[in-house]
Amino acid sequence: MNYRHAFHAGNHADVFKHVVLLAMLAALGRKDAPMFVLDTHAGRGRYTLHGSPAQRTGEAEAGIARVIGMQTSSSAIQRYQQAIRACNPDGGLRIYPGSPLLAANAMRAHDRLVCREAQAEEAHALTALFAHDRRVQVQAGDGWAAIRALLPPTPRRGLVLIDPPYEAQLAEFDTALTALAEGLRRWPQGVYALWFPIKRRRDLQRFLRQAALLPAQEILLAELLVRPDDSPLRLNGSGMLLLNPPWQLDAELAPALPDLLQAMGEDGASQRLDWLRREAAS
Ligand SMILES: C[S@@+](CC[C@H](N)C(=O)[O-])C[C@H]1O[C@@H](n2cnc3c(N)ncnc32)[C@H](O)[C@@H]1O
Repeated sequence: MNYRHAFHAGNHADVFKHVVLLAMLAALGRKDAPMFVLDTHAGRGRYTLHGSPAQRTGEAEAGIARVIGMQTSSSAIQRYQQAIRACNPDGGLRIYPGSPLLAANAMRAHDRLVCREAQAEEAHALTALFAHDRRVQVQAGDGWAAIRALLPPTPRRGLVLIDPPYEAQLAEFDTALTALAEGLRRWPQGVYALWFPIKRRRDLQRFLRQAALLPAQEILLAELLVRPDDSPLRLNGSGMLLLNPPWQLDAELAPALPDLLQAMGEDGASQRLDWLRREAAS
């Protein structure tokens, strides 16, 4: 396993994924009942942007650095900006929080977060980060196996974030679909969010056809492409497949995506927010 998220922390894909993640957590948190969050591919939880791999690649410069100070009327982006600022209390942009830290900061005292991370070094850093947070459990190991081991959870409300590195390229899309089907079988009412890379559009057609057949009540697809999706070699954008999304998530994301595009997009950038399945009554 070679993937190191530190090189990519705060890039356009992280920004998009974390705006969506925080919107989902805020929606779930509107009810008092406790929630359970599973982050199957958690990373180290906290990344230093200066003098680091992230600075060498410049990906955060083209991502979070363009979004943190932007003027926007989107409540989803404002919430995200506040969450990033909370991790940088001195002002500036030195720290980029990963999904576990963003989730933990958004959770209430009675919510639970379980994080799985396969790389020992990353899992170690994540364990240290949450050493004093009893709401959070860090497990070193395989995130895919967590779907079988931990679902259905207690409490029964909540969210599974699946954010694999796609080192196995297209084969990992099949693994993800199998995991989502297994998750839905075990916990049909769970909310599931799968992040996926977009390089060349035509490579995704089979995945999206199969995703639309998953037995969730509702399936929402959000995409943010910072460039045309015509090269198999670059991360041109990314998508989030959202199963059983919280109520009105689409209304929350609709104004956010064009603003993110304006901040981070190049020529040929585009965005998409479509229901792949929608309950008849809604
Ligand atoms: C894209 S990064 C995660 C980023 C994180 N979710 C965030 O948003 O901050 C993917 C992570 O998955 C880890 N990983 C790779 N294979 C895994 C597996 N089978 N189970 C759990 N984690 C895995 C990698 O070490 C890497 O840290």
